[in-house]
Amino acid sequence: MDSDMNHDIDIVNHLTKQFLCCAALIKMDFTVLGALDNCGFDLDLQKQILDNTINNDLIKRYPIKTSYQKSFLKLLMQEIEEDGNEIHDDLYAAYCRLISLPYEESVHYRHFLVENGTLSCITLKESINLISEGTTGLCSWQGAVVLSQWCAENKGQFFGKNVLELGCGVGLTGMSVISVCSPKQYVFSDCHPTVLGMLCENVKLNFLSNERCKLLKTSETSRLKLQLKYEQIDIQVIDLKWEDTDKYISEGSSQPDVIIAADILYENNSFGSLTSGLRHFLTSSNYAIIAAIIRNEETISQFLELLGNYDLAFEECSLLKWTMPTIQSIDAPVRILKIFQKT
Ligand SMILES: C[S@@+](CC[C@H](N)C(=O)[O-])C[C@H]1O[C@@H](n2cnc3c(N)ncnc32)[C@H](O)[C@@H]1O
Repeated sequence: MDSDMNHDIDIVNHLTKQFLCCAALIKMDFTVLGALDNCGFDLDLQKQILDNTINNDLIKRYPIKTSYQKSFLKLLMQEIEEDGNEIHDDLYAAYCRLISLPYEESVHYRHFLVENGTLSCITLKESINLISEGTTGLCSWQGAVVLSQWCAENKGQFFGKNVLELGCGVGLTGMSVISVCSPKQYVFSDCHPTVLGMLCENVKLNFLSNERCKLLKTSETSRLKLQLKYEQIDIQVIDLKWEDTDKYISEGSSQPDVIIAADILYENNSFGSLTSGLRHFLTSSNYAIIAAIIRNEETISQFLELLGNYDLAFEECSLLKWTMPTIQSIDAPVRILKIFQKT
């Protein structure tokens, strides 16, 4: 294979990965890919990009929101024109089809490509809005992407372990940990009924079609909403409000080896119940990892100060290198906190 061809494959793979998960377009720099080095976006490269993104079979079956597809294509066409190339007819045809669609849907899908020896795809149904039905839990947040990457970089901490996720939303981090880190048990938890419904759909969508997966339980009414056996992993979806942690433990649940959570430190009036919940779960032999989006330094400081009142301490963790897409256009730093019982 010559180097031009390799170069084209790199561009197509990079754009496909970004497109499938609706990465923030404002961060998508086509020129940084070096597309302009050789023959730019020639017709063949344009067709490859189109076939792997908008015309991808996965997108036909589980579409990402129409407005994103339109904006992506518009941006791509602008880049091609600025590059001095003619635009492939199929790009115009795809654009006309997209603008003639009658309405914008309220839910859509996002697809995250993760590396676990081979390349796996996590498909998630989500709301198109960041806040809907009074909750932030119906779409994936950047904290979930960062936490997924941290867990993948530290997979030894999850291999064969019982993992509990708090405030898991639609399930990105959990799906990634299950695919990449092979825990013994993974318990997804949240408290919002619509979030739990969408999460159950997503868990089934990603694992049930696999012949090595067995559905063990599904329930509308009990705390345990869904239980599957996937390969050797026990997967559960539970309704758990941080306020009810002591009740959950008294029901005989197994003590988690690791607790994880992404983007749950945004409302200081929930910090009391969250910290007290963590206190109930944490022993001298386990710990929690929280990926916190820092929208307001003071809010995070309040949480960290509160930990001391519950005999808990924290230390900072970091990512080795940033390889995941940026899915939100607002830049906010992320801190990864390890929380444990004070000795
Ligand atoms: C910003 S979303 C984050 C979702 C997901 N972790 C992510 O990063 O994509 C916060 C989540 O915490 C959940 N949550 C908020 N307060 C909670 C509580 N008191 N008990 C349990 N879950 C809660 C919400 O339902 C929501 O799904």
